[in-house]
Amino acid sequence: MSSLIGQPLDSLDSPQLLLDLDVIDANLRRMFDAGKARGVNVRTHFKSLKCGGLARYIQAHGGTTFLAAKLNEAEVLADAGITDILIANQVVGPQKMQRLAALAKRVQLRVCVDQAENVDQLSQAMQAAGATLGVLIEIDIGMARCGVLPGDAAVPLAQRIQKSPGLRFDGLQGYDGHLQLIPDVNERKAKCHEGMEQLTGTRRLIEKAGIAVTVVTGAGTGTWEFVAGYPGVTEIQPGSFVLMDCVYHLVRPEFNCSLSILTTVISTQPKWYTLDAGSKAISKDFGMPVVKGKPAETITRLSEEHTKVECESVPVKAGDRREVIPAHCCATMNLHRQCIAIRKGKVEAVWPIEASGRYD
Ligand SMILES: Cc1ncc(COP(=O)(O)O)c(C=O)c1O
Repeated sequence: MSSLIGQPLDSLDSPQLLLDLDVIDANLRRMFDAGKARGVNVRTHFKSLKCGGLARYIQAHGGTTFLAAKLNEAEVLADAGITDILIANQVVGPQKMQRLAALAKRVQLRVCVDQAENVDQLSQAMQAAGATLGVLIEIDIGMARCGVLPGDAAVPLAQRIQKSPGLRFDGLQGYDGHLQLIPDVNERKAKCHEGMEQLTGTRRLIEKAGIAVTVVTGAGTGTWEFVAGYPGVTEIQPGSFVLMDCVYHLVRPEFNCSLSILTTVISTQPKWYTLDAGSKAISKDFGMPVVKGKPAETITRLSEEHTKVECESVPVKAGDRREVIPAHCCATMNLHRQCIAIRKGKVEAVWPIEASGRYD
């Protein structure tokens, strides 16, 4: 057990990635209660979290199903005791097939496909290992990343999956990543429902061909409430709602920011001060972070190991602490090797972030 357990926040060295467990509890409650009320499964996206201890914590709070972006994340989830995992992407190439088959023997595993050749490769690998893999067809509902176009094209692919030994056709995934941060809520909702109509219309075509569809999954933190309860959709797959960041908080104020980076002031000037963490500890791919609870103190620059904070008059001295809320929680988790879970100002847990820095 870490010697930090029970220590007050003030005693920690910096920089340090903090998770506020009371805020996480409230975010989980809000999302999982809404899922229950609307009759939809909430599958939490682990690409935002990357931390097995956090997955176990979410499982203990009612979130037993998870989504992974990559095979390594699915393996970390299985090692954490999670037994229902969807890899939300295509897994391609001979090097990955053995790992995928081994994992399919340990947990209920699903992957997405959008090409016939990949279906054949998956089927061969599962047969060779004596494993069974659930398969969803990814439908491109406007993001133009991966996926089959909505409509008839999905039907022959579903038939091929259904006939392939070692595979089980389960349904469809359609993720509207291009809509998540649209500021106007009515526009976001209208565009989201257009995508859902394409997704559920494709479901109907597959069912008309006599193939059962048991899973239809989609949405992120920005669109969750427009998809949860949409007829024909069985599941939502948000991830950022657990940790949140200052960018997502603008479009989803019902979830609060539980993730922050504890920093120390290392220098002060008449109109700015400087913190001891920069872009190597706080992601800036979605823009500038903010200082937690200090709206008059504006972060204007991040270099590798420094954050510059401008203000009318500097209210801190060297050695003082500030917490920084990143603009992108997922990319920030990926920069750290451990997180410190805090409750009411004291350390409750220290968890490794096992999948950080891994892309396989
Ligand atoms: C396939 C898929 N589903 C869901 C999400 C939702 O994640 P978030 O809630 O962090 O927006 C993402 C985000 O990239 C994704 O790629």
